[in-house]
Amino acid sequence: MPALRALEDAVLDNGALSLMEAWDKRIAESRARSENSAMVNYFYGFHGIAFDIIGVLGFGSSFNITKSGDWTLIHTLRKMSNLVGIKSISPALARLKWLFRDMYSALDYMRNLAHNAQQQRRKEYESSDRKPHDDILQRLIEAHDPSTGEKISSTCMVGEILLLLVAGTDTSSNTLSYTLMRLLHCPNILKRLQQEIRQEFPDISTPIRFGEAREKLPYLTAVLLESMRIDSAVAGYLPRIVPDEGTVLLNKYQIPGSTEILLSLAACHHNKDVWEHAECFDPERFMGEQGELRARDVLVFGYGVRMCLGKNLAWMELYTVMANILRKYNIELPPDATYGPHRLSSNPDAFGEPEHIPIKVLITSTPVDPKRNCRILISEATEL
Ligand code: HEM
Repeated sequence: MPALRALEDAVLDNGALSLMEAWDKRIAESRARSENSAMVNYFYGFHGIAFDIIGVLGFGSSFNITKSGDWTLIHTLRKMSNLVGIKSISPALARLKWLFRDMYSALDYMRNLAHNAQQQRRKEYESSDRKPHDDILQRLIEAHDPSTGEKISSTCMVGEILLLLVAGTDTSSNTLSYTLMRLLHCPNILKRLQQEIRQEFPDISTPIRFGEAREKLPYLTAVLLESMRIDSAVAGYLPRIVPDEGTVLLNKYQIPGSTEILLSLAACHHNKDVWEHAECFDPERFMGEQGELRARDVLVFGYGVRMCLGKNLAWMELYTVMANILRKYNIELPPDATYGPHRLSSNPDAFGEPEHIPIKVLITSTPVDPKRNCRILISEATEL
């Protein structure tokens, strides 16, 4: 956490502030056309900043996706991730390179990008006039095994940098998208949250920072926890291997050593024995003292030694982006939105809540047809 605080300016500049700059431009263009609000797409907006942040922290400079609107890199990474998925399901099939030519060129492109980023930084690091950096790339370059002094090899470093990009982009950005989607579908919750943020931080000229948001915005904490419970960004299975001596699960299932167990976070988070009205979006369950205890049952970042390495960075992104955009903008769905408070779920367990945008799951989960489903109308809030 202290190391992360040093990175907060980069997270703010390339995250919330960069997104607001892009959205402000769209508002100015709409005003010039005498329109009261601007149409933007939150899914693309959140993806752009998640990539730009990892660009700064892991590759040494922003990918500038938010400013340029150029999504080539995001599509290339997706192709590379699909190849990784195919390799893990059927290594034999994945060896047919001609069949997946496009995906293999994406992998080569991404490897080169990561390789060049670390070579460039190593050169700077070794030259006498190097500038000091305080980012993840630098920490990887300086890291060494405390017992042998061995450093991370170039090849491993490329793997680590690409892992950051795969693990640290879709996860945070989809979590932000699901949170905003749920808020738009529950206007009372959105209203209460905006009131909390605007009352606590009325001075719009100062960006809301992570520590103060976490301390002063309990309802935002509850909304984020509930959003991550109900729509886990990592919705695939997490593998674990039982230790040699075996184990007993739930006091009744004897599992032999070396068994591979798959854990589904989505199933844990929707377990009716654990969560009352599990299919309802209800941030209230995380309010007050009892609510703080319940937060421990949200396993969205995994658990144990393999738990998410970017958990604190993710929290920083979630708090700063949500707090700053919800304070600054009034946000509503366009009149032709397919999903919203007007369209109620037919699932009896959802107790008449709105039907939410369906999701696609591979390893991470993504809302379907985001181009259409994630459009919003924004205008600058005049009264805080
Ligand atoms: C809301 C956002 C995020 C969610 C929900 C999330 C979730 C997860 C989950 C469930 C795992 C697997 C944990 C396990 O097996 O127990 C994981 C691993 C990982 N995450 Fe995240 N993550 C998020 C953001 C990030 C960010 C921003 C980064 C980048 C810095 C990151 C980097 C990683 C890495 C490197 C691993 C692999 C850790 C290992 O295997 O040792 N994650 N994440």
